[in-house]
Amino acid sequence: MRRRMLVVGNWKMHGSIAFAVDLAKTVVDASCNFASMDIAICPPHVLLGVVGTQLGGSEVALGAQTVSEFAEGAYTGETAASMLAELGCKFVIVGHSERRHLFGETNDIVAAKAAMALAAGMTPIICVGERLEDRKNGTTRTVIGEQLRPFMEPPGIDTLRQAVIAYEPVWAIGTGETATPKEAQDVHNFIRSSIAVVDKSISDTIRILYGGSVKPDNAPDLFRMTDIDGSLVGGASLKADDFLLICGSTQPN
Ligand code: PGA
Repeated sequence: MRRRMLVVGNWKMHGSIAFAVDLAKTVVDASCNFASMDIAICPPHVLLGVVGTQLGGSEVALGAQTVSEFAEGAYTGETAASMLAELGCKFVIVGHSERRHLFGETNDIVAAKAAMALAAGMTPIICVGERLEDRKNGTTRTVIGEQLRPFMEPPGIDTLRQAVIAYEPVWAIGTGETATPKEAQDVHNFIRSSIAVVDKSISDTIRILYGGSVKPDNAPDLFRMTDIDGSLVGGASLKADDFLLICGSTQPN
């Protein structure tokens, strides 16, 4: 059976209060058309409050783009999972490639963040993906296997059971280059099969999103792939029309 599709908008460091209110309101107003799927939007932390107010009572979930790996304390500039949960976040993106490569997040830090999110009652969206040189060197599977490693044994496996994975080839993020549906499906299938080796029930139910220049014109073909359960959308999530078209593509006629 097809898993329930999920489309997540990652606004990254874009927007203002007025922009966020307007975009969130437009998505909420259209969300009644998408009853058979899940939608989440992840604004910058400082906009979570205003966006959460707009989403209140709707089916559109609030998500954060990252979380501290620490519970609380003297960590200037960080945001604890409990704070995000209190603001109404249901999802937290962890290990986005921009966090891994620009801010030095290691696989173990990503695992700690995912565990923090889960302990606060939120669903971690664990991002994995290879860089262009990895793909050229033929090491895509090795890199992704290593990124998944902390989640393949206790205690990480318990986090994985309630997580979402996002496969985002780094070379496709914000570049306008997308993995072909077949390239994406191959990696999604690799991820699902790797999980099946350690826990078949998780592999059957876990949602694996594709991310990397998803647009209204390539979304339908990506969503037709059996192991693609939705997408993590960056640039196109900043345009209401594009984001809603992508949401609509999860429901082929
Ligand atoms: P993009 O970003 O859709 O702009 O490529 C995707 C992401 O980074 O999540």
